[in-house]
Amino acid sequence: MPQKFQQLKKAKRLKKSSQKWLLRQINDPFVEKARLEGWRSRAAFKIIEVDEKFKIFKKGKIVVDLGAAPGGWSQYAVTKVGDGNVVALDLLEIDSLPGAMFFQQDFLAEDAPEKIINLLKTITHNKSGRCDIVLSDMAANTTGDHTTDHMRIIALLEEALALSSKILSDGGCFVGKIFQGGSSDEILKELRKNFSTVKYFKPDSSRKDSSETYLVALGFKAEHVVKETKERTS
Ligand SMILES: C[S@@+](CC[C@H](N)C(=O)[O-])C[C@H]1O[C@@H](n2cnc3c(N)ncnc32)[C@H](O)[C@@H]1O
Repeated sequence: MPQKFQQLKKAKRLKKSSQKWLLRQINDPFVEKARLEGWRSRAAFKIIEVDEKFKIFKKGKIVVDLGAAPGGWSQYAVTKVGDGNVVALDLLEIDSLPGAMFFQQDFLAEDAPEKIINLLKTITHNKSGRCDIVLSDMAANTTGDHTTDHMRIIALLEEALALSSKILSDGGCFVGKIFQGGSSDEILKELRKNFSTVKYFKPDSSRKDSSETYLVALGFKAEHVVKETKERTS
């Protein structure tokens, strides 16, 4: 296998941490499978597994994909919902994603929600600017400090949920990355209030040595959220 041989040769010249990463990539069957099947990332298999289990995508559904780079999740979403129904963003630039509207943006910036809603409104017959599915695979670069890393991912997840409450249509769903082991009670409480079903799901393609898992929330209760928001602000 000449390509593998070249990669192993390269690994020997790298720093310990990069060596570890490269060797893991070389030996990861999902990396090879993604390459063979034409997915932009091995992450694609995680959303495929979520969909196989929870059947979240259907033709014509409108999807927002947060933290989309390099584009595996959006790629899969487009195959299921059709061209023009996926709005995707990431801090990083990516190659154009056929069938999806991608823009480079820090999701934590103040103007991010407005930009997303404006893009959603450009989708034909979607004047309300709502969507059916919000995906968040966002993860900040890890610092090595477990508490800091956990806080950062929780902050991203909370913002993604805040946006979901504003833009999801009734019955909509949310899939978000979270790391096990930290405090996520508040998030779960909020999710259980606003969705009819909430589950943790660890896809087989999510590395066993990673504490990453996913929250899958189905059946968004739009009316309940509107009523609660009104009561809170009156
Ligand atoms: C695990 S990757 C996503 C992989 C993607 N689901 C796929 O299938 O290719 C996590 C992404 O979250 C993005 N991210 C982290 N913080 C972000 C932020 N504040 N705003 C937008 N994207 C962010 C990172 O740039 C990174 O590309």
